[in-house]
Amino acid sequence: MAATTAATFSIGLVAGTQACRDSKFKPYSMKFNSANHLKSFSGLKAATSVSSESVSSFLGKESIAALRDSFTHIVQEQNQETVYCVRPQASAFKVAILGAAGGIGQPLALLINTSPLVSALHLFDIANVKGVAADLSHCNTPAQVLAFTGNAELANALKGVDVVVIPAGVPRKPGMTRDDLFNINANIVKNLVEAVADNCPDAFIHIISNPVNSTVPIAAEVLKQKGVYDPKKLFGVTTLDVVRANTFVAQKKGLKLIDVDVPVVGGHAGVTILPLLSKTYPSVSFTDKEVEELTVRIQNAGTEVVEAKAGAGSATLSMAYAAARFVESSLRALDGDSDVYECSFVQSDLIELPFFASRIKLGKKGVEAFISADLQGLTEYELNALEALKPELKASIEKGVAFVQKELVTA
Ligand SMILES: NC(=O)c1ccc[n+]([C@@H]2O[C@H](COP(=O)([O-])OP(=O)(O)OC[C@H]3O[C@@H](n4cnc5c(N)ncnc54)[C@H](O)[C@@H]3O)[C@@H](O)[C@H]2O)c1
Repeated sequence: MAATTAATFSIGLVAGTQACRDSKFKPYSMKFNSANHLKSFSGLKAATSVSSESVSSFLGKESIAALRDSFTHIVQEQNQETVYCVRPQASAFKVAILGAAGGIGQPLALLINTSPLVSALHLFDIANVKGVAADLSHCNTPAQVLAFTGNAELANALKGVDVVVIPAGVPRKPGMTRDDLFNINANIVKNLVEAVADNCPDAFIHIISNPVNSTVPIAAEVLKQKGVYDPKKLFGVTTLDVVRANTFVAQKKGLKLIDVDVPVVGGHAGVTILPLLSKTYPSVSFTDKEVEELTVRIQNAGTEVVEAKAGAGSATLSMAYAAARFVESSLRALDGDSDVYECSFVQSDLIELPFFASRIKLGKKGVEAFISADLQGLTEYELNALEALKPELKASIEKGVAFVQKELVTA
């Protein structure tokens, strides 16, 4: 039975309907409104509401239908209202968050917990994370939330997991660069990725811990040493740069946020963050002054938050939103969705550096394709900025690789 454009169907966080409560299906529903607008269950798609009538690079009409059909079952249609309930056999995945008690970890856990594609959410931290798990486990969402506290429980947190997200580590304080975090976070990421290699080597690995330009190469070296490196499954999370670029461009040009998509390439620190404004969708023109101002604002947006928090950390809520979007995209790809595109810092041959952030196509096995077209026909400003970012990005990558190799020699 297909939903008509006039129909409203429910999926998500709203309370279960009588039909759901009385059926064998879980009382879990999600709200879709008329004209086939998807009110995303957690607002984590390219935007909070995606119209299947408009072209979206993240969620096309077919994928909305596929997403809906993959986990829903119509149990009632009356008075123009169609009720969908979650199928017991819907695809579902296990996700682990390492650093789940932190500023990013907690809201990220909340957002991931709302995804119907998640059957189990494992929260790991060296700090006590039991309270976070107990709190989240009261949400009437399908995911089973489990807490794992301390290194002795790390292996169990990772067994059977499909996606591992790593926001563990220290955040910036005012005056610090992301590279200033290297000495602490490099070790944390190295140790956690070793455990990932031992316990769930096939999982997608999402690295949030800064400096991403170095922590991703660190993770790659660790996985290589363990003999389980699959470059298609290791991702530096740069989604926040895209989220910021989309927001700032939409504000500046008076565009509907839902429609805006700006690819961001390079890396994830200062000038290595390069928004390709000439590739903005929908096509829009910028003055030279606007390009300069927007580029600098996107590059410094993290510092804007660090300074506003005045010593209390860096971006956590917008970061959780962005990371949850990347998790959701990964889960849709794992679930067989054929229309999943995100920007990420990955092993790449798009330019002469071994790691590079660009738009990629995600599939069941990870990176399926690099969207090289984004790098063609760049403006002179973008070409110069691309050249200018290479030395810093190269140095950060080499620093990460050297860190693991030095540790190996020392050991
Ligand atoms: N990629 C991005 O766009 C982006 C954006 C913002 C912040 N970050 C980075 O994310 C990281 C986390 O930021 P936050 O604000 O959540 O910090 P936070 O200090 O609030 O939380 C970090 C958590 O990691 C935990 N932790 C530390 N060592 C651990 C270990 N070995 N194993 C498991 N957990 C461990 C801590 O106990 C804490 O709960 C920082 O490195 C920050 O720079 C990245």
